[in-house]
Amino acid sequence: MKKIIVLVLPVLAGIVLNAKDLKLSENNIPETVKALTLEEKAMLVVGFKVEKVSGAAGATCPIPRLGIPSITLADGPAGLRINPTRDGDEQTYYCTGFPIGMMMASTWNRDVVGKVGQAMGNEVLEYGVDVLLAPGANIHRNSMCGRNFEYYSEDPLLAGRTAAAFISGVQSQGVGTCIKHFALNNQETNRLICNSIVSDRAMSEIYLRVFEIAVKESQPWTVMTSYNCINGIQAAENKWLISDKLRGDWGFEGCVMTDWGGGYRAENIISSGNDMIQPGGQYWCDEIVRAVRDGRLDEKDLDACVGRVLELIVKTPTFKGYKYSDKPDLASHALVGREAAEEGTVLLKRTALPYAEGTDVALFGVGSYDFVAGGTGSGDVHRPYIIDLRDALSQGGFKLDGAVDEYYSEFMKLEAVRCRNIDTEAGLNLWFLEKERPLEALNRELVENAAKRAQTAVITLTRVSGESKDRLAATSFYLSSGEMDLIDCVAEAFHSEGKTVTVLLNVCGAVETASWKDKVDDILICYLPGQDGSRAVADILCGRVNPSGRLPLTLPIRWEDEPSSRNFPQILADKAANYSFYRNFYDGVVRNDVKNIDYTLYEEDIFVGYRYHSSVGQEVSYPFGYGLSYTDFEWSEPATRKVAGGWEVSVKVKNIGSREGKDVVEIYLAHPADGEYLPAEGRPTLELKGYAKTGTLGCRETETIKIFIPEWICDAAQGGKLPKGYCFTALRSAGSHFSSKKICDSSNL
Ligand code: GLC
Repeated sequence: MKKIIVLVLPVLAGIVLNAKDLKLSENNIPETVKALTLEEKAMLVVGFKVEKVSGAAGATCPIPRLGIPSITLADGPAGLRINPTRDGDEQTYYCTGFPIGMMMASTWNRDVVGKVGQAMGNEVLEYGVDVLLAPGANIHRNSMCGRNFEYYSEDPLLAGRTAAAFISGVQSQGVGTCIKHFALNNQETNRLICNSIVSDRAMSEIYLRVFEIAVKESQPWTVMTSYNCINGIQAAENKWLISDKLRGDWGFEGCVMTDWGGGYRAENIISSGNDMIQPGGQYWCDEIVRAVRDGRLDEKDLDACVGRVLELIVKTPTFKGYKYSDKPDLASHALVGREAAEEGTVLLKRTALPYAEGTDVALFGVGSYDFVAGGTGSGDVHRPYIIDLRDALSQGGFKLDGAVDEYYSEFMKLEAVRCRNIDTEAGLNLWFLEKERPLEALNRELVENAAKRAQTAVITLTRVSGESKDRLAATSFYLSSGEMDLIDCVAEAFHSEGKTVTVLLNVCGAVETASWKDKVDDILICYLPGQDGSRAVADILCGRVNPSGRLPLTLPIRWEDEPSSRNFPQILADKAANYSFYRNFYDGVVRNDVKNIDYTLYEEDIFVGYRYHSSVGQEVSYPFGYGLSYTDFEWSEPATRKVAGGWEVSVKVKNIGSREGKDVVEIYLAHPADGEYLPAEGRPTLELKGYAKTGTLGCRETETIKIFIPEWICDAAQGGKLPKGYCFTALRSAGSHFSSKKICDSSNL
């Protein structure tokens, strides 16, 4: 007996000694997990209120005795979101407001996206944050989703590749990213628990594909699960989604966290492989301890989550003791954001552009005097400034018509008072009410007189949206009567003087264009382009920059033409409270009571955006992938060859115009019977399978573009071969629509 006790004591002492001396490192994570108490384990997988960086979204809990620091998590996709000022601190903590995610995708340029990621990642690092809660990568299932501005595209390849470039850029700075919201968070209405009902195929080919590409091509440090349910199971508690698909099939090696307040049952969240419950709090810690103690949660599952949280922590600058400066180089980052805005702006229509420097411009539209840089909610940024369009045009060498400028300046002052005085409807969560937007102004005499004086007119149309509320097609997709009257009046007056009119779309997503685009001469879409976006617009208007963006989304003729519009919520804010619209106290039961509120049917299946419009031959106003240039390009006959793991398509692009510029080569897998909708086959007519943007080509210069298309993203391929009749098609914008060059028949692939 004595012998055994003697043996036991040193072992116990060793454990105690070890535990006392044990300090977390990247090489002793299993031992550290073993040394934690159950309460400490619960604290590590639950968010914790730590005010290291004021305004950050969340943090993890420190365990000092084991050398485990708290790490800091902060939003967002268009720039780091932290408080710009701190009580008693003279320094400011502004962050660069970059263009919105949609505009990053509109660049079709992964190098530019990567540079934005690097700049944003540097601000994350230098302000003492460890993980950036971005990118937002959900598919634009319907143009009226309130958070589409944060997301990239209706196409999973463009969205996935843009996300991967962004993630690699941010993580090159030694900080983490958090691709979100995994998955099928494609509407804001009742987002906390709305049940997305979707086919396995649409899930695989469209809604999960974007995350699959990003994970396989960039390994984000973390993934954030979405609030909603997927086929009846909350994403935050979805073992199939997190453990089987994300980790098992795709090889994701990082940490998973809930959205803020996502998920309901602690034992389900942890046992699904969701490692961190954010923003956390004592309730969740207690719940986890109770669940282990009464057998609802296997401690092994908890240990696995704790291990992954520790693996995340040891990668962070905080754990490595990085001495952050709180002084990132905002000036150079602003230039990176401006370049991205230049690259992402799309020239939709061209008659007279670019203007000569010094042109006298009459600037119409309240949007010209209240230029919007980004969307609202957690995707907003506390920017050091926003350059107004007026200032950008003046500084860019244009002369603004004084009378018009004076009229709008007065008008905007009155509107500002009116908007601030609007009583928000009592009882509704303020998040639901978009910031009241100024009404459009029209003074016919002013327009007619300006047409006699100014050389040209610019009209800005603006749309803003944000988290927690979807857009209403009636007021947000379609133009108001005031906007239509303004376009009609300005066009009539300036055309009668033989002068031109340009419309600038400063928007959060798709708007109606078909009914008025023939009334004006030039159209640019600059989305919500960040703090210096209006400078990019000025450079494009005067030709210092040749636009090279391409639409990452379809601009349909009518909102109702979108296949998902039959199954998308359009709730007037004043009616919201009557629905289970904001069921704050989710009771864990998925109800399928109210269509598009409690559940949303993804009836269109894989036919999202251009996949639908091109397959049914439906005309659109401006198609996905479209964009013009101030110069012109000629392509060689594209060639395709089978290579290991896929195919390589090469195209020689030549600048045959009079200005330097960039072109985009888009490669689609084309269905055998082009333009024929073959539900039996179930394959869209066109599916984007590769793309690349040239560098800046001078006049007569050429560049050979080579695009690798991996087999695994060609769902039609079987055993590395394409079915008979399928082929890769190179599409580019020429004139008003696409010119398509069929590349080759699949028979020789
Ligand atoms: C929000 C958003 C998410 C954000 C998080 C932290 O509710 O859905 O995108 O990162 O909370 O602010």
